Amino acid sequence: MTKLTINSVKNSKIDHVNFNELPFGKVFTDHMFSCDYVNGEWVNPTISEYGPISLDPSARVFHYGQAVFEGMKAYKDENDDIFLFRPEDNFDRINKSAHRLAIPEFPKEFFFEGLEQLLLLEKEWIKTGKGNSLYIRPFVIATQPAISASPAEEYKFMIICSPAKSYYAGEVRVIFAEEYSRSANGGVGYAKAAGNYGAQFYPTSLAHKEGYQQIIWTDANTHEYLEEAGTMNIFFRVNDTLITAPTSDRILDGITRKSVLQLAKDNNIATEVRPVSVAEIKEAANNGSLKEIFGSGTAAVINPILGFKHGDFKFELPALTDNNYSSFFKKALNDIQYNLAEDKHQWRHKVT
Ligand code: COI
Repeated sequence: MTKLTINSVKNSKIDHVNFNELPFGKVFTDHMFSCDYVNGEWVNPTISEYGPISLDPSARVFHYGQAVFEGMKAYKDENDDIFLFRPEDNFDRINKSAHRLAIPEFPKEFFFEGLEQLLLLEKEWIKTGKGNSLYIRPFVIATQPAISASPAEEYKFMIICSPAKSYYAGEVRVIFAEEYSRSANGGVGYAKAAGNYGAQFYPTSLAHKEGYQQIIWTDANTHEYLEEAGTMNIFFRVNDTLITAPTSDRILDGITRKSVLQLAKDNNIATEVRPVSVAEIKEAANNGSLKEIFGSGTAAVINPILGFKHGDFKFELPALTDNNYSSFFKKALNDIQYNLAEDKHQWRHKVT
């Protein structure tokens, strides 16, 4: 296995960045990590200046969408120590996604060495204080110049970083999908495959025109069961019970999602992981037992949903009370992520 090469930049661009105004994912740090897959092995792990890469126009990623990614965040505590949250889970998941897209697995040593060295170089970009984080985007693309429709023999694995505040700038209301689908049985819905996201853009743009920010996808067969929002897994609070759909080959196994379920268990909050029907949520809305809907994800953290629409049925969620679940879970997660609370499940990973 080849050794990591680090070519650090002489002049950082950090002084030109306004950290108080950070639209999500538009500002990138000084460096990036890359590693190439050629002749059946991953070689040339390198950290170099962030910037454009050159690819042959026939690279298979452009034609067949052979691309997978991850979303992670780094946090800093008051002592300037840097932490990741459950990074092993991201590592496992990118390889699970890669496997489904016939992309070779990435070695664990390269992933963690590249990631941690990159974060140490970019430590000034990680600001202290809740709400500040460095969003980390590992991804793999098929680079082989060849347009025959088969798996590539050459790939590039990269990690880029973007200082982040919140993902959704404003209020989020959703449409429950009735026509379009995000994923189907036996498909790639569980993978963080680039195409899963691109395929949502058009239906989501139609939702935007109606004043809704996101779609909660329903099962492709019947459109009767609520699955996930594409950028987030989804939770429903009915009375005091927290309900979410089980993961499947159609739904992303969200790391924030499973952390919320564990925190609920730790705090004696009743949970039900089972198919959630559109009909029962509309019924709960009508009879007053639907108290909250929120999304969970790395980028979004915990994002309350203020209203939903399904056909002609429109509903505004009640105003959040003091003991609302979305604020509770957001605080509980953030306290662990920013090293402000006990980490009884060893989710925090200190970067050294
Ligand atoms: C994440 O939450 O990290 C994701 O990958 C979702 C993406 C749409 C920002």
